[in-house]
Amino acid sequence: MDFPELAGSELGTKEYWEQSYEREIQNYNDHGDVGEIWFDEDSQIRVINWILKRDEIQADYNVIDLGCGNGMFLIELAREGFKNLLGVDYSPKAIELAASIAKDQELPIEYKVVDLLSEKSMTELGTFNIVHDKGTYDAISLNPDNPKEKREKYIENTRRILSDEGYFIITSCNWTEEELITSFQGKFEKFCTIPTPTFRFGGKEGSVVTSVVFKK
Ligand SMILES: C[S@@+](CC[C@H](N)C(=O)[O-])C[C@H]1O[C@@H](n2cnc3c(N)ncnc32)[C@H](O)[C@@H]1O
Repeated sequence: MDFPELAGSELGTKEYWEQSYEREIQNYNDHGDVGEIWFDEDSQIRVINWILKRDEIQADYNVIDLGCGNGMFLIELAREGFKNLLGVDYSPKAIELAASIAKDQELPIEYKVVDLLSEKSMTELGTFNIVHDKGTYDAISLNPDNPKEKREKYIENTRRILSDEGYFIITSCNWTEEELITSFQGKFEKFCTIPTPTFRFGGKEGSVVTSVVFKK
């Protein structure tokens, strides 16, 4: 099955995210507001609950959040006792915001400016038991310039940093589960779906967000 690329948007550009996190830093400094949790807090809680329910996943598992933004996903995992947490984002402003939130909450989370499309920077990170993405593959897919090539680079680089037994957990609002499975074919296999609320319209059932767990 083939599907069309998404229409390019400013959400696919680094300039957009830098400006957006610059505003969020200001809000955080002025009012203590940590900023946007993309796709609402429930989608984050569903993923965290899935992780917490799996017996084999231990608090010393190393976890990376791809395109971590303000880092709220890692903040929640740190509160649950996870110790090896790394957040990466290509926006230095996002990393500045995330690092100051973690510092103010006295939570030991590491943050780094990394472009997920850079093979060298990604390879240097090593491998992880859990690789998490919420909204970042979506943002990359919205890049106005050659999105297919960028998506493929992201998939390759993400595969490189996932340990052999590790889980790659992705939440998307732009791609359906079937589209994600098709795009990741040959690189990742679906392990399970994390159920999200569905709605019915015109006799068809759909979800606003999709969360899927993949393995190598
Ligand atoms: C929709 S936001 C999601 C942020 C966060 N994951 C969340 O759920 O709140 C997309 C994030 O991906 C980051 N991003 C987009 N392209 C990236 C790339 N090539 N490398 C690293 N980060 C990227 C953006 O800076 C932004 O923080």
